Amino acid sequence: MTIIITLDGPTASGKGAVAAALAEHLGFDYLDSGALYRLVAWQALHAGWTIDTPFDDEHKLQLSEWARHLNVVFTHQHIILNDADVTSAIRAEAVGNMASKIAAVSSVRTSLLQRQRGFARGKGLVADGRDMGSVVFPDAPVKVFLTASSEIRAERRYKQLINKGFSANMRDLVADLNERDERDTKRIHAPLKPAQGAYVLDSTDLTLPQTVAKILDYYASIVA
Ligand code: C5P
Repeated sequence: MTIIITLDGPTASGKGAVAAALAEHLGFDYLDSGALYRLVAWQALHAGWTIDTPFDDEHKLQLSEWARHLNVVFTHQHIILNDADVTSAIRAEAVGNMASKIAAVSSVRTSLLQRQRGFARGKGLVADGRDMGSVVFPDAPVKVFLTASSEIRAERRYKQLINKGFSANMRDLVADLNERDERDTKRIHAPLKPAQGAYVLDSTDLTLPQTVAKILDYYASIVA
């Protein structure tokens, strides 16, 4: 049986880096579920849709088709969609913002559900997202909800984007983050909230290694 650690939390709370470090430390697989929503967003943007495109029934059908048939390969370092390397491109803020709009469409969430569960096949999995503990892996033995103040999250996202070669400015980022938080927490389907029984960890004043160490302690108290 695969041991599952779920790691949910708001945008730029540091989940990605923490999840990858945990997976590496424990020798577990890693599921970056946000990447799946970003890939669907990438397809929509490529088809000429914008953040202002109103989603009617036909749009929703198209979105769930894209989600169901995502032709994606995750390698250790890369994400290949339809034979193109989109690893960096899907990290753009415009893609993240579109992803959060698309993520409110329930048929898209349903279309991605089995694919996400399929990642639980090795000895362990660290699953990072918004609804990993509440919907996708409700029986996971270890559930963590990672938060941080919006100022520190905007700062972290700023550094991340600049390091990846994107341009960014703090004022737009804070506005963008607030907009996404609002959309993710207020949506009807699988809203962002701590799963029942989740360990809520505020990483505002913690470094990455300190955050990882706290979660490993928690993991050891339950699983070891
Ligand atoms: O985590 P990341 O920022 O890459 O996710 C992009 C968007 O995808 C989020 O803002 C959120 O709306 C959506 N998402 C989701 N459920 C997940 C993972 C991501 O709704 N499990």
